[in-house]
Amino acid sequence: MNLVGDEDRIPVILDVDTGIDDAMAIWYALESPRLDVRGITSCFGNGGIEVTTQNTLLAVELSGRSVPVYQGAAHPLASGVVDTAEAFHGANGLGEAVLPPVRGHAEPEPAAEYLASALAGGDTTLVATARLTNLALALALHPELARRIPRVVVMGGAAFCPGNVTPVAEANIWGDPEAADLVFQSGIPVTMVGLDVTHQACLTDRHLRTGGPDPERAYADVLATATEFYMRAYNPGTPAGDRTCPLHDPLAVAVAEDPTIVTTKPYSVRVALQDPVTRGMTVVDARGHAPAPAHPVEVALTVDAPRFVHEFCRRLGYNLVP
Ligand code: RIB
Ligand code: CA
Repeated sequence: MNLVGDEDRIPVILDVDTGIDDAMAIWYALESPRLDVRGITSCFGNGGIEVTTQNTLLAVELSGRSVPVYQGAAHPLASGVVDTAEAFHGANGLGEAVLPPVRGHAEPEPAAEYLASALAGGDTTLVATARLTNLALALALHPELARRIPRVVVMGGAAFCPGNVTPVAEANIWGDPEAADLVFQSGIPVTMVGLDVTHQACLTDRHLRTGGPDPERAYADVLATATEFYMRAYNPGTPAGDRTCPLHDPLAVAVAEDPTIVTTKPYSVRVALQDPVTRGMTVVDARGHAPAPAHPVEVALTVDAPRFVHEFCRRLGYNLVP
């Protein structure tokens, strides 16, 4: 990847529910030569909002960078029920890694208000790797925002593959389907980086055997422990060959940085809301005779996984396998 001057960097805001792969995504973004991370907003999801906010602050501190963090939604739009993902991220959200104390604090401004003012400038891409609640709340406060946001890259959904929470629903959409449908229907240009591609973009035991991540990185211990937890969660029992785990959230950051890492196609995407069996499903209209979508969503269909995973390992300090 080419180095660019600071003025040419792509301004982005990350909206996260940190979470193991969110922490990886934060480090991937903060090590990017092409992205300018202006702020990070937290949302409930992989843990409660206090946990995900503290983990976000910690990820930033361990990166050695200074980026403001804004605390966001504590529950989905339509209910007070928060369904966390302890099995995949641990009770502390970071795979039970021993966490150093967090020194900083979230900014006083709530995430939705920060998003509304920061995105109104019209030049900043939002990379959302959590429930879409914060953005939905910002749109509720300022509906005109939909016309100002150049792009939202969403890690979420499952277009032509099974879900990971229910047979048809992916976690970030399942966790707040009303928010997701509102965003998909808002007219904001959305790129959907769903399980269709994130399940192709995996870290494997081959990468972990290299001895990385680089112990010089302040986040190395947390990353190593969290990755092993995540690997075990994705590969229960005694797997026969190398284990693999999907790099969901880092891939969304990679797409914001370099859209050519995936191929996409525009579709109408609705989120199923009513029926308990299909709730949270991303319903993609792939009929040959489908009417032109009013609000097309660019759905990622294929990914150059070797290129992405190689860059992920290089950037986070893993020794590369030749
Ligand atoms: O389905 C994967 C998504 O759910 C990722 O964003 C992960 O962090 C979890 O929130
Ligand atoms: Ca996430």
